[in-house]
Amino acid sequence: MKKILPKALLLTGLALSISTTAFAGSDEKKKAPAVMSGAKAEMLANTCAGCHGFNGVSQGPATPSIAGMSAEYLTEVLKAYKSGDTASTMMGRIAKGYTDEELKQVADVFAKKKFVAAKQESDSAAAKKGKKLHKKYCEKCHSESGSEADDDSGFLSGQWTPYLHATMTDFTSGKREMPKKMKKKVKKLMKKEGEDGMKALMAYYASQQ
Ligand code: HEC
Ligand code: HEC
Repeated sequence: MKKILPKALLLTGLALSISTTAFAGSDEKKKAPAVMSGAKAEMLANTCAGCHGFNGVSQGPATPSIAGMSAEYLTEVLKAYKSGDTASTMMGRIAKGYTDEELKQVADVFAKKKFVAAKQESDSAAAKKGKKLHKKYCEKCHSESGSEADDDSGFLSGQWTPYLHATMTDFTSGKREMPKKMKKKVKKLMKKEGEDGMKALMAYYASQQ
């Protein structure tokens, strides 16, 4: 997977620039620029579909669904991957291939799509405990159980557990920086509830379908 990735991306990039040129050279040329940038943004978004799924609903548990998050959040996250401020396995390399303006355009495309919760198993006793912990430690900034786009804080409910778990590990290990107040809450949670508390939260988010 890792080995073929750069080539696959290169090919996609090539196809993209050819089709963009063809488009610009066609009779469509005289149409309003907005039409062209809309079509271009959709094409850019297609290069994300291999991993994030069509319409931003991911089928693979290590890759987050990105549909329906706010354009602000998506743009910020993409820029942070690009600059290296946010640690990543894949996205740093990918985001570097786009201008900030293109990242914003692609964010706009996914912000308009509909989020679909991942179908996952969860332990119901743990989920029940997780619901309480979420209310106490997280709901303030991740309202509606972490499904409110306007919070600009990503989605928790219905997000893939392996992605969420890896992200929380990046946060607690300091690999990814937490917002200051979130850090305080997460510290408190870990001190009082430990790994079991984190597992309970994960079970709760997985149970929200
Ligand atoms: C090769 C697979 C792959 C491709 C292609 C890809 N992504 Fe990702 N994306 C990932 C993975 C894996 C993560 C988790 C972070 C990491 O480890 O890189 C991620 C994370 C993200 C996140 C963070 C979501 C959150 O909840 O904070 C956003 C936003 C995102 N990708 C957007 C995009 C966009 C936009 C594109 C297309 C321009 C794209 N990705 C292309 C694999 C991919
Ligand atoms: C004071 C506000 C605040 C609190 C409290 C808070 N968060 Fe956050 N959280 C944020 C913001 C803002 C972001 C997005 C910006 C960023 O990632 O730096 C975020 C991002 C996240 C992400 C990344 C989402 C993604 O899609 O990658 C996860 C996971 C997360 N928070 C989990 C939690 C959990 C679990 C709790 C409770 C234990 C919690 N947060 C408490 C503000 C908060």
